[in-house]
Amino acid sequence: MSDRVDWDRLQALIRAHYRQPEGLIPLHAPCFDQLEKARVSATIDSTFVSSVGPDVTEFERQVAEYTGVEHAVAVVNGTMGLYLALKVVGIEPGDLVVTQSLTFVATPNAITMHQSEPVFVDVERDTLGMCPQSLEQFLTTQTHLEDGCCVHTESGRRVRACVPMHTLGFPVRVDALKTLCERHHLALVEDAAESLGSFYQGQHTGTLGDVGVISFNGNKILTTGGGGMLLTHDADLAARARHLSTTAKVPHAWRFDHDEHAYNLRMPNLNAALGVAQMQKLPMFLEVKRAWAHDLQAENVLPMLTAPQDTNPNFWLNALLCENADERDAFLAWSQSENLQTRPLWTPMHHLPMYQHCEHTELPRTEWLADRVVTVPSGVPCEVLSE
Ligand SMILES: Cc1ncc(COP(=O)(O)O)c(C=O)c1O
Repeated sequence: MSDRVDWDRLQALIRAHYRQPEGLIPLHAPCFDQLEKARVSATIDSTFVSSVGPDVTEFERQVAEYTGVEHAVAVVNGTMGLYLALKVVGIEPGDLVVTQSLTFVATPNAITMHQSEPVFVDVERDTLGMCPQSLEQFLTTQTHLEDGCCVHTESGRRVRACVPMHTLGFPVRVDALKTLCERHHLALVEDAAESLGSFYQGQHTGTLGDVGVISFNGNKILTTGGGGMLLTHDADLAARARHLSTTAKVPHAWRFDHDEHAYNLRMPNLNAALGVAQMQKLPMFLEVKRAWAHDLQAENVLPMLTAPQDTNPNFWLNALLCENADERDAFLAWSQSENLQTRPLWTPMHHLPMYQHCEHTELPRTEWLADRVVTVPSGVPCEVLSE
């Protein structure tokens, strides 16, 4: 293990923050109290536990208000939210969709669900998100415009959309990406699964492109058990997403007519009840998480990834930078043996067997970061709820 890092000091810091001198400290556990129990219990009593109900409507209203979008559509999880977002912006089988290789596998999986294929571009060192220069290089050297559509010159396939991801809650440079998407006629779908509470130049992540998608999985900043939400300012996209999130039933008092393939992706009311209660705590969760990020940074045990300029991240997971892959692996082995749950970043998508054949640009920063970044326990200690 490397001598340059004071591992014991890091452990002491983490255990003090969680007020847990021993035992497992998870990477990001959910945090509930009576508020969630009461809300879920009331929803059970109401019998509206399934895919319609007042909690879904209220949760959508709260998230739309918090993020500043016109429309929010609650769905079963973030993965299917991305699937639906790509559907409503017009992805068709055979299309190409540009995304980053440094992401969770759900991002390209949502693309391949449409029988379309990802193209991987590089990320930036400071945001960990899609690099505008890398995207521009791909678009200018490998595509051309044909009848108002972006076409991949070598394969003749249409490039329909771009999906950047706000990695670990750090906002990507959305304005630069948006300019490129407009110039090359691509839809912009933001994978904001990890970035509820993260702002870019004062605007909430997931609200700057055509559609953004949040996840409420149990490991996220706020959870509904499983869940996701589409965010958009576009009333037509929202209406279509809502229609396709059910069974595309044509409204009628008793007839069962359906006008498209649709797969029942709506968030159940029971999950939304949990979300409504959790939303009340979001400002407090953010305050605690930002303070923890600040403390970790101040201790400087390992260099920490900090907020890129003009952004206010949620610090969903705090990321430390090891010197190299050996130090990363030593850190992960040590933390596991000490009962501290830590993680590397994901294996880059272009290394996974099902994505190895996909087109990609040079990916030096993806490889560099994947070799070095580790994440450390970052959830809110439940004790703060009783203070
Ligand atoms: C970047 C990213 N995209 C998509 C997802 C998928 O969300 P879910 O787990 O809700 O399906 C996740 C997380 O789980 C994620 O981290």
